[in-house]
Amino acid sequence: MDREKYINSIKSVILTPEQIQEKVKEAGAYIDSLYDGKPILLVSILNGSFVFTADLARAVSVPCEVAFMAARSYKGTESTGNVEIILDIEKDLSQYNVIIAEDIIDTGRTLKKITEILKSRNPHTFRVLTLLDKPDRRVVDFKADYVLFTIPDIFVIGYGLDCDGYYRNLPYVGELG
Ligand code: IMP
Ligand code: MG
Repeated sequence: MDREKYINSIKSVILTPEQIQEKVKEAGAYIDSLYDGKPILLVSILNGSFVFTADLARAVSVPCEVAFMAARSYKGTESTGNVEIILDIEKDLSQYNVIIAEDIIDTGRTLKKITEILKSRNPHTFRVLTLLDKPDRRVVDFKADYVLFTIPDIFVIGYGLDCDGYYRNLPYVGELG
């Protein structure tokens, strides 16, 4: 693989590490105020949310468990429209205040499907937090309970988000050129 090609195709920085951390701190405070000392289960949607989840988990003070789900809906920069659950949670959710931590809501298909599945398991409470939201791209009706950043219809990478598996380790969110 041509490493230079990948490095040179970052067009601009959209969100700096500082901007991201400020919003993550606010999101942590939002969770703390909502759950008021009660334990939560933070459900990270892999792979894109692993960085966001790690920071969000450290920004909350309520007792916090972390679980992982994985869905696949993308090849390169194009949505396939198909959502496949490739890793599931095995806990009995009826005991849990479930909070989904998602990296980005685009067409809405992934979270619509995951929300349907998890709600059918009767969690004690259920909420969705997303780092990024691209409302202009929605093809199914879906709204998160909390959005850290609303962005226009551009393909972004970094802070967990990838293009063909690359860029997830960047500390900022950038636009691919
Ligand atoms: P949705 O099902 O179309 O809402 O897509 C959600 C998933 O698509 C996210 O969890 C990401 O993995 C991926 N995705 C959507 N837009 C972008 C983007 O701009 N950059 C990187 N991944 C994206
Ligand atoms: Mg992805």
